[in-house]
Amino acid sequence: MEIIYNVSLMQRKADEWRSAGKKIGFVPTMGFFHEGHLELMRVARKNADVVVASIFVNPIQFGPSEDYNRYPKDIERDKKKAQDVGVDILFIPSVEEMYPDGFQTKVHVEKLTKHLCGLFRPGHFDGVTTVVTKLFNIVKPHVAVFGEKDYQQLLVIKRMVKDLNMDVHIIGVPTVREADGLAMSSRNTYLSPEERKSALCLKKSIDMARDMVKKGESNASIIKKKVEELITSYPFTKIQYISICDPDTLEEISQINDKALIAMAVFVGNARLIDNAILEKVEKGDRI
Ligand code: PAF
Repeated sequence: MEIIYNVSLMQRKADEWRSAGKKIGFVPTMGFFHEGHLELMRVARKNADVVVASIFVNPIQFGPSEDYNRYPKDIERDKKKAQDVGVDILFIPSVEEMYPDGFQTKVHVEKLTKHLCGLFRPGHFDGVTTVVTKLFNIVKPHVAVFGEKDYQQLLVIKRMVKDLNMDVHIIGVPTVREADGLAMSSRNTYLSPEERKSALCLKKSIDMARDMVKKGESNASIIKKKVEELITSYPFTKIQYISICDPDTLEEISQINDKALIAMAVFVGNARLIDNAILEKVEKGDRI
């Protein structure tokens, strides 16, 4: 596996691969790899001839009171994990390399960013779409892989790619979970052992909501109230939002007809955790 720190070197390597007819798969990350990231890399491997993963903790997608300065890092461990899953190039640019003096351009997706996390993290999605656009222009991938845990991010990126005619195919990969159901996240390392137990409330409340819908409940307020009660019954929790919304537009809905998205952000201690699932009256596994 090759490590590249430099934008123009990465661009040259991508050009070489493209000229040789190789299909480039790309996994953008902020590092501190867990199974969720490795799964994205495996999917990229299956869908491309060569795989690039990037590690870049993107300052412009963090708010002033967020965790940019304490975001977990372990580059040596990441290098080993990426190598083990067959990544060809690990691209690790510095902040100066990505945002040199004079940088002043942003990419903005209009409506989808106004809901869910967008309501509480102003500017966050502009930071994401801007850095992902830059990374696409640097790595020149044919295919890029993102996790469904960041459901809104995935939708925003798909929209941006479509709207700006970017020639890259976006693949979404289901959330990878710990054995007890907690969605894998680099931010789980912020949890104390007691908070780690409480963090299970996200998945438990999602499972309860799915069950309610399967049993015929279609009133979103009733479901949200039950979810809220369950989450707040766990210590160290503070709900930022619980949303039941249209899975395509992310607009809140009051009645679940066919299917809906349940998405939530909950602080457990200092860790802001997110999770989501599709609520369906008849789930895929139930269909004959
Ligand atoms: O999901 C992430 O880790 C980040 O938002 C991304 C896509 C790498 C952009 O910084």
